[in-house]
Amino acid sequence: MVQQQRETWATRLGFILAAVGSAVGLGNVWQFPFQTGANGGAAFIVVYLLAVFLIGFPAMLSEFVIGRRAERNPIDAFARLGHRNWKVVGVLGTVSAFWILSFYSVVGGWVIRYVLGSATGAYFSGSEAYFGAIAAGPEAVGFHAVFMALTVGVVAFGVTDGIERSTKLMVPSIVLLLGGLAVWAGTLPGGAAGYAYYLSPDIDALVSNLGSILPAAVGQAFFTLSLGMGAMITYASYLGRDDSLPTDGGTIVILNTFVGLLAGLVVFPILFSLGIDPGSGGLGAAFITLAGAFAQLPAGRLLGVAFFVVLLLAALSSAISLLEVVTSYLVDNTDRSRRSIAVALGLGIFLLGVPSAFGVPILAWYNAVAYNLLLPLSVLALLLFVGWVDAGDAVAELRRGTGLSESGAVAWLWFVRTVVPLGVLVTLLLGLQSLAV
Ligand code: PHE
Ligand code: NA
Repeated sequence: MVQQQRETWATRLGFILAAVGSAVGLGNVWQFPFQTGANGGAAFIVVYLLAVFLIGFPAMLSEFVIGRRAERNPIDAFARLGHRNWKVVGVLGTVSAFWILSFYSVVGGWVIRYVLGSATGAYFSGSEAYFGAIAAGPEAVGFHAVFMALTVGVVAFGVTDGIERSTKLMVPSIVLLLGGLAVWAGTLPGGAAGYAYYLSPDIDALVSNLGSILPAAVGQAFFTLSLGMGAMITYASYLGRDDSLPTDGGTIVILNTFVGLLAGLVVFPILFSLGIDPGSGGLGAAFITLAGAFAQLPAGRLLGVAFFVVLLLAALSSAISLLEVVTSYLVDNTDRSRRSIAVALGLGIFLLGVPSAFGVPILAWYNAVAYNLLLPLSVLALLLFVGWVDAGDAVAELRRGTGLSESGAVAWLWFVRTVVPLGVLVTLLLGLQSLAV
């Protein structure tokens, strides 16, 4: 192993914003409103919020504990903590990061295309045809390459100069733009029905559809909190200070939830004011319906540009965290420069993503494998490690730099040992069922 001075975040806020940048992504702004629509509206949100706070938050703290204590990339972290056999968990997370970024970047390419399409009005004459033309084929490969190049560009500059500096700009821009759009969406005639749909849960529907709502909600919670891909382990490995992990983690979870809900306050009034069914979800449907909506609205070009720029910033700040997972492993273990590592990895991930750029069903399959298999499996293994193998040290690490009592930390530990993995296991089994069909 090459010994070199490892980078750390310049400021505590820098770490929090970078982690929020990772969390806030296509998952919040694009997937979340449409998952909500496909799973019956507000009832889904209730289960999702429970999943975020009861399962996602303790799991995020588990990743933080591993990362900060080991000060290593996810693969070497386990050996550093004295459990070489558990390295496979880090490998699983790192492979997942590589895998997810490959198609995430293809969607990122679509988003760039929609920023341009909004500016020129290219999709105003036919939203469905436009998606069909840009989503798959050589052009999609080209924009996938552009998005990947942007991601590499940030990561090549390093933790403080690249990731920290760029996310400090991107995250506030996302919140401001999205907030502005939400205020505007509130003025749309007929939009109020969207709030009702979004904010008043139908409990009967929830109970009868729990078998499909639960895995969707838990999977969404993991994906949106960037769990199971080593991203939070990696970001926490650059902490090196005695900040309070529960406070930082809580801030990140709350900000991420806030942005997701805010995105709903933009999307639902738009859809309802135009009489579009939010249940018509699906990977492409989100782009088609929203673009179709902008095409019908006054000042649609401007609003379209604003919305898709939000989506682009959100996607980019997430993509860099995925690339950083894999990059950190090679930076920790080789003599090569960070820049050449980022470029080489970017090229490999680009190639893995090319099939997804040639067919939306292929992309959907990559996504389903990640969502239903890689993420829950990886989180489950991580929870078992922290809860049962590394327990004593994990409790001490969680308390480091906080006023958290021993009993508070032990309560977290028992949660991580029992309730959380059980919830994940149920999700995994239900989710695998959906993969099989
Ligand atoms: N959390 C991101 C989103 O919601 C996706 C992501 C997952 C990013 C895992 C990094 C790691 O879009
Ligand atoms: Na992001």
